[in-house]
Amino acid sequence: MTAQPSTQQAVVEAKDIVAGYLPGVNILNGCSLVAYPGEMIGIIGPNGAGKSTLLKAMFGLVKVHSGSVMLGDQDITNLRTNRLVEMGVGFVPQNNNVFPSLSIEENLRMGLFLRPKKATERLAAMWDLFPVLHDRRNQSAGALSGGERQSLAMARALMMEPSVLLLDEPSAGLSPVRQDETFLRTRRINKTGVCVVMVEQNARRCLQICDRGYVLDQGRDAYTGTGRELANDPKVIELYLGTLAEDVDAERTDTL
Ligand SMILES: Nc1ncnc2c1ncn2[C@@H]1O[C@H](COP(=O)(O)OP(=O)(O)O)[C@@H](O)[C@H]1O
Ligand SMILES: [Mg+2]
Repeated sequence: MTAQPSTQQAVVEAKDIVAGYLPGVNILNGCSLVAYPGEMIGIIGPNGAGKSTLLKAMFGLVKVHSGSVMLGDQDITNLRTNRLVEMGVGFVPQNNNVFPSLSIEENLRMGLFLRPKKATERLAAMWDLFPVLHDRRNQSAGALSGGERQSLAMARALMMEPSVLLLDEPSAGLSPVRQDETFLRTRRINKTGVCVVMVEQNARRCLQICDRGYVLDQGRDAYTGTGRELANDPKVIELYLGTLAEDVDAERTDTL
């Protein structure tokens, strides 16, 4: 899927979001993003641009002062997180995204606390997607490597069969090979029918693998387009990809 079919209903849409952590200090200043069925959306931009804040605003963790967040035709602006999970929004924060003292299987069961009767079926689906987690299901999550922890966090969010999965920098802190694996696994998950909205610091790779991207700058969506359009846009290259592009190209393998 490349261009967004405008007649199709969005899976999730943030419209003109103004939001922040402190009264009178807005971090997002009219930020918009839309994801259509089947899409994988990347959000890139400099540190402090508000990328994480946008995901948190969509997941009820940051107060939205104006604008709206829609899930299909339902207004989910400022709903509580547990309600959003129930309605089909999954969120994987960048850090502290597993319970280290619980086992892998217990972590996954926690992900389904709202619907325990489906545990067997959902666990089987997760073991299928993440065989390494199955092999180590009785070990504590604290013993996992960075990449495995990210897999577990993603699997936990997927237990509830979300229609949209919000991911904050899933490849951060991983080696280039593990980053590649994370991107490819995320794409595979997307292909199972989950809409993915991911923030990424590995901007070029993110644009290569996503259907569409948004460049955030100072709390606004500065540029948007297909991954390919953005990756080849001279303004985006100059401002946001820059020398990073060469580094990422150099570490590119033939896995994509
Ligand atoms: N919990 C918080 N309380 C107050 N300000 C915050 C908090 N988290 C982030 N900020 C501020 O919001 C701005 C955007 O942060 P963030 O959304 O984390 O940026 P990004 O993810 O694009 O690097 C930054 O100026 C940051 O200092
Ligand atoms: Mg961030």
